[in-house]
Amino acid sequence: MGKDVIIACDFSSKQEVMNFLDKFQGKKPFVKIGMELFYAEGPSIVKEIKARGHKIFLDLKLHDIPNTVKKSMSVLSNLDVDITNLHAGGTKRMMEAALEGLTRPDGTRPLLIAVTQLTSTDQESMENDLLIKEPIDKVVMHYAKNAADAGLDGVVCSPLEAQKVHDTCGKKFLTITPGVRFADGDIGDQKRVMTPAEANRIGSDYIVVGRPITAAADPVAAYERCLAEFVG
Ligand code: C5P
Repeated sequence: MGKDVIIACDFSSKQEVMNFLDKFQGKKPFVKIGMELFYAEGPSIVKEIKARGHKIFLDLKLHDIPNTVKKSMSVLSNLDVDITNLHAGGTKRMMEAALEGLTRPDGTRPLLIAVTQLTSTDQESMENDLLIKEPIDKVVMHYAKNAADAGLDGVVCSPLEAQKVHDTCGKKFLTITPGVRFADGDIGDQKRVMTPAEANRIGSDYIVVGRPITAAADPVAAYERCLAEFVG
């Protein structure tokens, strides 16, 4: 899989997501399914969207004891998604167990991506709530390195961290970056944003774009613009 735009389908029902995808006549954008849709509709929503020919990033951010994560990943690998993820904070052992669970008997598996520190966690909450006293960017890079050492394929990170992640973990280690906005668009609740073109320049492998596409007057045109700016 090469550089691509992944649409964050943050809808709460099958009807809403299918109405949205119906607009993309003849096009098969890569879609991200998150907890809201998955918990509302169950695994069948993944199978139905996959059957329509879309690639799927199943964003469930697993975090539990290694054995539970391993068994859950084994169930998810049967859904034939293309990318799934977990929290790097669950430790290297948990990540290694996840990879084992995700790998099918024939050796194939979806890409496995780690979430480092959520962008909603800042230095203050990390220090006060989690008692982690190191600078947040050091923690993010340490977690990315742990994910690479455990054999994972990449991390979800801010576009501003993508270059450093590649420097630390290697060019082939994937960076999937949300927080993307058009230069003339609304930034909403995202704090640190980049345009698709900037995300391309700094080396993001995939951008995750939600509202700039899902809330656009013409979502297909917004998607095409994203692709043109990011992939060229
Ligand atoms: O609508 P918007 O483009 O802000 O959506 C971004 C998507 O990426 C959402 O699904 C959000 O949950 C996800 N995300 C994020 N920041 C992270 C991790 C995931 O915005 N650090």
